[in-house]
Amino acid sequence: MNIRLNNGVEIPQLGLGTFRAQKKEAYEAVMHALKIGYRHIDTAAAYQNEEDVGRAIKDSGVPREEIFVTTKLFQPDQGYLKTKKALHKSLERLGLEYVDLFLIHWPMSYQLTADSYQAMEELYLDGYTRAIGVSNFNFHHLEHLFDTAEIIPQVNQVECHIHLQNHKLHEFCRKNGIYLEAYAPLMSHEIKALLENETMQEIAKKYDKSVPQIALRYQLERGIIILPKSVNKKRIEENYQTLDFTLDDADIDAIAKLNRARKYFPEADNFN
Ligand SMILES: NC(=O)c1ccc[n+]([C@@H]2O[C@H](COP(=O)([O-])OP(=O)(O)OC[C@H]3O[C@@H](n4cnc5c(N)ncnc54)[C@H](OP(=O)(O)O)[C@@H]3O)[C@@H](O)[C@H]2O)c1
Repeated sequence: MNIRLNNGVEIPQLGLGTFRAQKKEAYEAVMHALKIGYRHIDTAAAYQNEEDVGRAIKDSGVPREEIFVTTKLFQPDQGYLKTKKALHKSLERLGLEYVDLFLIHWPMSYQLTADSYQAMEELYLDGYTRAIGVSNFNFHHLEHLFDTAEIIPQVNQVECHIHLQNHKLHEFCRKNGIYLEAYAPLMSHEIKALLENETMQEIAKKYDKSVPQIALRYQLERGIIILPKSVNKKRIEENYQTLDFTLDDADIDAIAKLNRARKYFPEADNFN
């Protein structure tokens, strides 16, 4: 299922996350995901797996133009010139001529972020990335970016799961033409709390699906792009099998009530 970003570029609504997946593990996960139908891979310079992801993309035999590849600007690489160098380095590591989406991984000072974003706009206009965006941006980071940006970001990738549903940020982004991407849609290192949630277990039973499948389906129904990470073949398949069913309104309401505004990753303003 594809979504059209504000510049007309299409992005598959479900992608494979690769945080904490390295070397052989990342290579094999991407190979398997592409084999079973994933067409969207999320990586970052900070994950130190761009070479492995790039090699898998090449070896998969899937035509490059059919795969949506995202990478992100590492914080030490922020700044106008450094940002340009950083994307070229990422492209070299990935073995690609362009990426589909380039994101500011975390906001830094307003000036540094504005300078980095200006470089990203130029990289976009020069064809090195088909879309640009941000990650871990809250309202005030976006509002400051709007003061200087000439191109509205296409995406904001933020932590988003049943305990942190980000309804207001989602609405704000939607009004501004920015798609929300959910990272940690399975609650990442806190996945146990998701798997043990009784409401989720009951809903999963009703649909004969797993709790992770219900958690992912919920975000898909909200129109959010999801990036579940797995290096396990069976779980990569399980996470992909969320495109073929829908949730009743009553179940959507029940999941909405599980929101705790609870972050498991740092606040952007406190992130070092
Ligand atoms: N922009 C940012 O700052 C940022 C931050 C964090 C993440 N991200 C992106 O978002 C992606 C997803 O976030 P995440 O990796 O932190 O967390 P996640 O996708 O919410 O959860 C990953 C964890 O869940 C396990 N898992 C996956 N599918 C499962 C299933 N069906 N049943 C049971 N366990 C399952 C994985 O283990 P196995 O691998 O063993 O299956 C892993 O331990 C990342 O990989 C990355 O691409 C971005």
